[in-house]
Amino acid sequence: MTDPALTADLALPAVAVATGATEQLDRPRVAAVAPALPDDPVWWRSAVIYQVYVRSFADANGDGTGDLAGVQSRLPYLRDLGVDAIWFTPWYLSPLADGGYDVADYRAIDPAFGSLAEAEALIADALTYGIRTIVDIVPNHVSDQHAWFQAALAAGPGSPERERFWFRPGRGASGHEPPTRWPSEFLGGQTWTRTVGPDGLPGDWYLHLFTAEQPDLNWDHPDVRAEHEAILRFWFDRGAGGVRIDSAALLVKDPAMPEVPEDPAAGEHPLHDRDEIHDIYRGWRRVADDYPGARVLVGEVWLEDPDRFARYLRPDELHTAFNFDFMARPWDAASLRASIDATLAAHAPVGAPPTWVLSNHDVTRPVTRYGRADSSFAFARKRFGTPSDPTLGRRRARAAALLTAALPGSLYLYQGDELGLDEVDVARDEIQDPMHARSGGVDPGRDGCRVPLPWSGAEPPFGFSPSDARGRPWLTQPPHWAQLTVEAQAADPGSMLNLYRAALRIRRSEPGLGDGPMTWVPAPPDILAFQRGDDFLSVTNLSDAAVPLPPHRGVLLASADLSDAHLPPDASVWLRPDRVSTDAAWRLPDDDR
Ligand code: GLC
Repeated sequence: MTDPALTADLALPAVAVATGATEQLDRPRVAAVAPALPDDPVWWRSAVIYQVYVRSFADANGDGTGDLAGVQSRLPYLRDLGVDAIWFTPWYLSPLADGGYDVADYRAIDPAFGSLAEAEALIADALTYGIRTIVDIVPNHVSDQHAWFQAALAAGPGSPERERFWFRPGRGASGHEPPTRWPSEFLGGQTWTRTVGPDGLPGDWYLHLFTAEQPDLNWDHPDVRAEHEAILRFWFDRGAGGVRIDSAALLVKDPAMPEVPEDPAAGEHPLHDRDEIHDIYRGWRRVADDYPGARVLVGEVWLEDPDRFARYLRPDELHTAFNFDFMARPWDAASLRASIDATLAAHAPVGAPPTWVLSNHDVTRPVTRYGRADSSFAFARKRFGTPSDPTLGRRRARAAALLTAALPGSLYLYQGDELGLDEVDVARDEIQDPMHARSGGVDPGRDGCRVPLPWSGAEPPFGFSPSDARGRPWLTQPPHWAQLTVEAQAADPGSMLNLYRAALRIRRSEPGLGDGPMTWVPAPPDILAFQRGDDFLSVTNLSDAAVPLPPHRGVLLASADLSDAHLPPDASVWLRPDRVSTDAAWRLPDDDR
């Protein structure tokens, strides 16, 4: 997919970048095309952000791979769904060794997806539908095809070009052992790869926390900092409303390269969440704040400690970060409630709004996850053939949709979750995700949630590609998705799609929803009930019996049928409560006797 010739002139000379020359070069050119963003300084505090995995969203040119023209043609769909922003997973020039998270040029669109002019037009057109664009920035590493890395390889040991990365001699008499035993972020496999010199002899090793095609950048190097701030400006100049920051807690490494201590309490980790990282994001925040229209920084921060997590959200750092703690929890009232409480407690001191995320392009689809005996999520536990009950999973995913849409803060929606798509068992010989191979074939990888969307029709490609397409979808769609197409669901009032549409419509108009406080309401065991604003009550039943609804004046929306004024198991309802005080009386099941 990558023509090396296209990458040849991508690196601006370090000196030009460092003096801000890039900014001066870019700004006049885009001034005429850059769209104005609505002037709402707090849009991101309540936003519904839809994640587009470009490769699998919609294929306009019929090659079996999604593209920007496909997204462009579906903007009315996203407007009707009711989203405020699109987050695009990386759309840059890339050999796709890791689905585009191996970027060869952050200022060019991969030709498989389209062109820079199309991206600019898409950002502007989306704004005419009231939809902002968030681009994905991958700062921890680049593609091994990136000009900087190619230059580093060519320049050889000890060169300034190599200082932008982590090149080190190996250990042992002949340097045949990697410099550290740091574990891979991809479950298995090496984190160092040995170079081979022009003489064919093995040389230094370079660090890659992910695949060998993703060399880690050295964030102690001034070029790396300056280049990324210039990249942010490049996209903000083109109207991007924000950036999602990939692997945001990994950037800084201890240059002394000690081993990871076995005892996590034994001092700072050599590569996770190091204190110096915050200075980088303070610089990024200054860049974002330089632009009108509230440009936001969203961090992909996988950290267990809620206080360490919240440090990224201090007022001069990132605006928000994905709440993976909630996402990974099992379908269990006590566990979800504990996560909600911990999330609110961690965010309050820094004044940042929480986010609610049920899935993304890396994790098992909620319909499949929630239908399993163990409905929690952990990368290390993914295995082929784990049984799941799709009916149960779909019921719970519907309930989870209403639960999360009612919680305070912003909401992320991964493409296809609004259709209730299940995780696909991708055939082993079709799997492209490097996680699969790196696990020695044990882990199914992440392609099961990346299968191209079904839009219409009774058989593949289900409108993902045009009917006269030259290519098949890059991953095979299962036949049962005929029932889950947008076309089929639009015509069914009870569909997942119509549930999401209604939920997002209510969320927009309901004053208590989005950012703001919430109050738990006393409820029977395994029921999550909370009030938002003056006149809104959300109730989710995670018990295994139907419960009578609390006193209410009206039902706004329910994820399941409410026969006899009861909320069935694994269902949520949004109500106009009868009484709005937090001690609202609830008719417990025992009262019925
Ligand atoms: C993030 C992305 C994931 C990617 C990894 C390396 O976790 O979400 O898809 O593989 O970073 O860039």
